[in-house]
Amino acid sequence: MVQAPTDKLDWANIGFQFRDLNGYMKYTWTEENGWDKGTFEKDSYLKVHMCAPGLHYGQQCFEGLKAFRDDDDHVRIFRPRMNAERMMRSADMAYMPRVPVEVFEEAVRRTVEGNLEYVPPKASGGSMYLRPVLFGSGPCIGMDAAPEFTFVVFGMPVGNYYKDGVKPVDAWVIEDFDRTAPNGTGATKVGGNYAPTFGPMKEAKKRGYPITLHLDSKTHTYIDEFSTSNFVALTAPDVNGRRTFVTPDSSTILASVTRLSLEDIAKKLGWQVERRPVKFEELEQGHFAEVAACGTAAIITPVKKFVRGDKVINIGSGDQQEIGEGFAQLYKEYRGIQGGDIEDTFGWMWPKEGL
Ligand SMILES: Cc1ncc(COP(=O)(O)O)c(C=O)c1O
Repeated sequence: MVQAPTDKLDWANIGFQFRDLNGYMKYTWTEENGWDKGTFEKDSYLKVHMCAPGLHYGQQCFEGLKAFRDDDDHVRIFRPRMNAERMMRSADMAYMPRVPVEVFEEAVRRTVEGNLEYVPPKASGGSMYLRPVLFGSGPCIGMDAAPEFTFVVFGMPVGNYYKDGVKPVDAWVIEDFDRTAPNGTGATKVGGNYAPTFGPMKEAKKRGYPITLHLDSKTHTYIDEFSTSNFVALTAPDVNGRRTFVTPDSSTILASVTRLSLEDIAKKLGWQVERRPVKFEELEQGHFAEVAACGTAAIITPVKKFVRGDKVINIGSGDQQEIGEGFAQLYKEYRGIQGGDIEDTFGWMWPKEGL
């Protein structure tokens, strides 16, 4: 059922924004019946009870993943199982029914199938961003779980994040707000982890810092992650061209699917992969040749400078205009697998035969 992209959209300029497409998948859970079989819905407005714990108590979570075209216009989704499993952990955290992996995968697949013409052409560098959301939708005013839950998956075409090339950015280190607490919710994708970062992120943007870094909330000594992405770093290559890929070992960061995949690619390249507590002062001591943020939206965002209070910490020269060689290598492999240019030896693209 190969379907070419519609010619009604200007693929070079679609950006990152919500668009009404043909429809989306919606599932309902009740105590009596569990999850229903799901329906393809058209109306983007949901009817939700005003007493829904999803609205009052933040009983909700969400996910984000992407679908890509290859040269033959087949469409495949990048590692949906990983997001399904992560959403189960978020569901457990907010006392919600788990969406089984098969239901999650089916929801994602049917959403993409119902909107195939909106998956951007491969040449545009774009993709279809998919947003699964799970929340307590039935009425309950007491501090308790909702009697009914809603799970929706919708999609939207998004442009190439880096249509003018991957550009290194400056990062702001947040000191006056902690994203999560020790033993808190940081490793899950519950909405409550996000709204409180909007203010600090906006403030940082105003000052010229597109991304914000969180330190461990207990001591502000170790690096946790960025507000919307994981922290990753590379050492300089050794005489054999091998590097070490370093990422914080922290119980309060999200298990980024992008980061886990980059780790696998780094291993494939013969590099070392280290997951360990990373002290902020390692940046000052020049331990890393390259530092970046990684996540589904941009994949890799190189960071050339960190600003913590009145301290400025340069990574390398601090004024690089391009992605470093190490991350460029990882990025190329990653995008190559997503677009079908590099053999998917990991079995990441799903379904294998394409949609
Ligand atoms: C806090 C946080 N960390 C990391 C990530 C990156 O995760 P992924 O690579 O699965 O998109 C995200 C985005 O989902 C995020 O919100």
